[in-house]
Amino acid sequence: MKDDKFTVSFTLNGKPCSVDLKGNERLIDVLRDSLDLKSVKEGCGAGDCGLCMVLVDDKPVHSCLMMAGQIRGKAVTTVEGIGDNRTLHPIQKAFLETGAVQCGYCNPAVILAAKSLLDSNPRPSRAEIRRALSPVLCRCGSYVRFEESVLVASGEKS
Ligand code: FES
Ligand code: FES
Repeated sequence: MKDDKFTVSFTLNGKPCSVDLKGNERLIDVLRDSLDLKSVKEGCGAGDCGLCMVLVDDKPVHSCLMMAGQIRGKAVTTVEGIGDNRTLHPIQKAFLETGAVQCGYCNPAVILAAKSLLDSNPRPSRAEIRRALSPVLCRCGSYVRFEESVLVASGEKS
C-alpha cells in the first residue's frame, strides 16, 4: 500500500519544527493535537469567530481554514511563543492591568491580533485597533478593554 505521508518543516515560536502529515490536516489540529499548543482554540471551525487565530509570517491567519501542508518554510507564532508566566509580553501585561481577561477563551487570538498590529503600527488609533481586533469574537464582550489594553501596550495610555 502506498504511504502518502510527507514531512513539513517550518519555524514554530522561533524554533525549527517538523511534522509528518497525510495531507488533509488543518493547521489548527496539528498545532493543538500533534504539537500540544492548546492556546489555539476552535470555535466555529468555519472562519467566522477568529478564535483559532495564529500568526503566519507575522500576519493573523485562521488556523481552522489553513491546511497544515501550507506552512512549509513559514514562521508560525502562537501565544506560547510570545510570553510565559515569568516573562509576559507587554500586551499580556496590559490585559492583566486593564482587567481585559474575563473567561480568557478568546484572549490568545486577540493578543496575537494585537501583536501583529503593534509590530507593524506601534501607535495605532482606536479605529485601527478596533479594525485589527474585529476578526475575533468575544462572547464576554470585553472589546472596550481590549482596545484599552492595546493603547496601554503601545504607550499611548497608562
Ligand atoms: S474556529 Fe472560528 S474562525 Fe477558526
Ligand atoms: S474573554 Fe471570554 S470570550 Fe473573550
